[in-house]
Amino acid sequence: MMKRNILFDCDPGHDDIMAILCALAHREELNILGYTTVCGNNTLPSVTRNLLNVLSYLGQPALIAEGCDNPLIGGPEVQDAHGKTGLDGFDFPEPTFETLKISAVEFMKEQIMQSKEPVTLVGMGPLTNLALLIKSYPEVKKRIEEIVFMGGAIQGGNILEHSEFNIYADPIAAEIIAESHIPLVICPLEVCRDVSINEQQINALKNAGYVSNMVYGLLDFYYGYARKHHMKETPVFDLCTILYLLYPEAFTGYACSLEVIPQGKTVRGMTVIEPQDDSCITVLTHADKGLMEGFLQDIKKLDREVVQK
Ligand code: RIB
Ligand code: CA
Repeated sequence: MMKRNILFDCDPGHDDIMAILCALAHREELNILGYTTVCGNNTLPSVTRNLLNVLSYLGQPALIAEGCDNPLIGGPEVQDAHGKTGLDGFDFPEPTFETLKISAVEFMKEQIMQSKEPVTLVGMGPLTNLALLIKSYPEVKKRIEEIVFMGGAIQGGNILEHSEFNIYADPIAAEIIAESHIPLVICPLEVCRDVSINEQQINALKNAGYVSNMVYGLLDFYYGYARKHHMKETPVFDLCTILYLLYPEAFTGYACSLEVIPQGKTVRGMTVIEPQDDSCITVLTHADKGLMEGFLQDIKKLDREVVQK
């Protein structure tokens, strides 16, 4: 597999962190150029702090640039599912490094224009930063290999009847991305169901190692919703993006059109996804359910690799 250059745009978020851990365990295949944060699951300062906390805990300082603290229109739509901090479940020591002094859009533009190879953007929150990037610097478009993002739903939503959170939180940004003509890979709610974790798998991480301990604390909290609703497992949504980049053959999907409904009390953020053969957009529908076990092995690999400070 050719090594891919990737930029993460995220709002951590328990599942954002799982995707990042998975990528960190696969440095041979993925070259992480950096991270940008966006207001989504929680406020911008909180999600940025969460990312700094995790990467500091791992002893992996990295390039992080803060992005938008509001969607393109309207105010932030924070979520309860990730707790008060946006990443409840583990007590982190103080971060050991700081964010860059430039904005997410400037950082992404620099990285994309400097890179010899095309860059893949991985969207795991509202698409605000990415939409601003391509509006401000349209020249980056031809240097973007594809945008792989978690968002949208083919049918049932998780915030409104047919709307998924990341798209609902900034539907205007999603519309800009949908109309960008950049190759897109959509990981909607449907495919994320195949990337689910159960309580037994989470419990096996307890006291199993330095990284496992952190993952246990985080996922044990994240699982609270599933426990409360007597679910047998819960999707780790954003992890889907990285699993797709690593194992595209483990996924099925189809070429499609994508329309985003920008407003409307009951339909805001709804994604209308229809098959369209000549499209540069792909929607994923299913994944091999065995991928989760592979991810848990990745955490063990990180346990061996990460030196406790
Ligand atoms: O709807 C799922 C998305 O919203 C994921 O990106 C998750 O992190 C949550 O914030
Ligand atoms: Ca997210």
